[in-house]
Amino acid sequence: MQTRRKVEDLRSQRWFASEDIRGFAHRQRLQQMGMRREEFLGKPVIAILNTWSDISPCHAHLRDRAEAVKRGVWQAGGFPIELPALSVGEVMVKPTTMLYRNFLAMEAEELLRSHPVDGCVLLGGCDKSTPGLLMGALSMNLPTLFCPAGPMSSGRWRGHVTGAGTHTKKYWTQLQTGEIDKDDWIDLESRMTRSHGTCNTMGTASTMTSIVDAMGLTKTGASSVPAADSAHPRLAAWCGARIVEMVFEDLKPSDFMSEASLRNGLAVYMALGGSTNAAIHLVAMARRAGLDLSLADMNSMAAQVPVLANLFPSGNYLMEDFWFAGGLPVLLDRLGDFIDRDAKTVEGRTLGAAIEGVACYDEDVIRSMDNPVVPLSKGRTLVLLKGNLAPDGAVMKTSAAELPKHRGPALVFDGPADMAARINDPNLDVSADTVLVLRGAGPVGGPGMPEWGNLPIPTKLLKQGVTDMVRICDGRMSGTHYGTCILHVAPEAAVGGPLALLRTGDMVVLDAEEGRLDMEVSEDDLATRRAAWVPPVSPYRRSFTALYQKHVSQAPDGCDFDFLEGTDVVPEPPIY
Ligand code: FES
Ligand code: MG
Repeated sequence: MQTRRKVEDLRSQRWFASEDIRGFAHRQRLQQMGMRREEFLGKPVIAILNTWSDISPCHAHLRDRAEAVKRGVWQAGGFPIELPALSVGEVMVKPTTMLYRNFLAMEAEELLRSHPVDGCVLLGGCDKSTPGLLMGALSMNLPTLFCPAGPMSSGRWRGHVTGAGTHTKKYWTQLQTGEIDKDDWIDLESRMTRSHGTCNTMGTASTMTSIVDAMGLTKTGASSVPAADSAHPRLAAWCGARIVEMVFEDLKPSDFMSEASLRNGLAVYMALGGSTNAAIHLVAMARRAGLDLSLADMNSMAAQVPVLANLFPSGNYLMEDFWFAGGLPVLLDRLGDFIDRDAKTVEGRTLGAAIEGVACYDEDVIRSMDNPVVPLSKGRTLVLLKGNLAPDGAVMKTSAAELPKHRGPALVFDGPADMAARINDPNLDVSADTVLVLRGAGPVGGPGMPEWGNLPIPTKLLKQGVTDMVRICDGRMSGTHYGTCILHVAPEAAVGGPLALLRTGDMVVLDAEEGRLDMEVSEDDLATRRAAWVPPVSPYRRSFTALYQKHVSQAPDGCDFDFLEGTDVVPEPPIY
């Protein structure tokens, strides 16, 4: 039987219970905001870290959800405080939200440390907000409950299913080839994203929220609840009530972040056909929790677990269909021995107990192991590639690619401006066999590893009916996209990785089955090119970007900052 913590032992009481002049000031300032002593004294203080903003459509409802969380906290006898945190809304934030993931992680950790907080509910879900919030919370290690923003409602256009990201790309291609016209394109603008909430395809958002769900950091199945469903505010209120209990139970992330929960997360990642972005975030999160995780570990899980969730871009449905089919609990159940059912969750019970007796309501949406969406022989969620072009590794999602084996000449672009200027030049020497390469898009070079890895197929080739080409990039790709895209090439070009030495015309060889990515350039030639290579000069001399470029690690190491990794204890703030 677990011992229940006493209120007087809670962290917040260092602020509120003391009889000195500081204690007076803290109580006085809450009363300044209209709080009665009875409303906060002797209660656990729950921080609600809210990544709402006016320009993050995926989080547009989180102001309301924070109120629902508060409702739960009050009802359970806690004192809620809402703390705004960086709203890293994908799409609008340039050059990329990834540049700010670590910034959010730092903010989350420091908000929790510097305020009188005993436990927290994290409100987020759009791509980088999940790892960002959780990396900070894992480092702080207070009782933590993640409340995912939830996927947006399904879209339809003229009878056809439309999913965020995946179909934007599809219809953009159709616009280039003349299959749809400008008016259709404008019409689509208002129909593709029907409600608030995160992308409804299996992009980075649902990949990350589902993995975190499998790891036990939220109510089991919470990641599948649609943002616009009435179940969502009920989930938020549940989170508020539950976190108060977690504070008394002293149930912290370190109590359930384990090798087992990490493996559960990995199995789900692969069964979802999840985003390549997760390969970076998971390493960063694991290291914050003092766990070891490598690309090789993920590669080995991917080789065993086929894609079971029939969701775009690897499959044919949307997150709302997944929810109606039973959601993540069904997928967990389908994973059989790949799931450690004894792993604990924030609910204070095992994952096995949480999924006991679940039923699947649509066998086509959530498949079984003997009827996968993509059999392992046809493609995987993640393939680790190594070779003289990526000595430290590169990744690709073969379940959403057409060309797992290829040999062709490179066409190299140095950065997105170079690519934009030349890719659709009618005189460009390019054919379906060409390997399109974009470098200078890595963590240091981008900076922040923008999602530029899904290089557009030149319009003249689209018109010839070319549907996929081999593309190589040291940046990332949106999880909602598809194609033979080799991503996260490490080391990146900007720090002198071999990608920097590649020249247009060099032959590149991809063999996904063998896990190889090579350029056919002799050692001698490479040595000569290396001797002549001049590192790029960064235009960022001050501010966050300068700090970022100085401290960020490469993709296989999670792109965290060197000074944020690990589990060294940071002293509690002195209160004088
Ligand atoms: Fe926010 Fe896709 S843009 S989840
Ligand atoms: Mg995305």
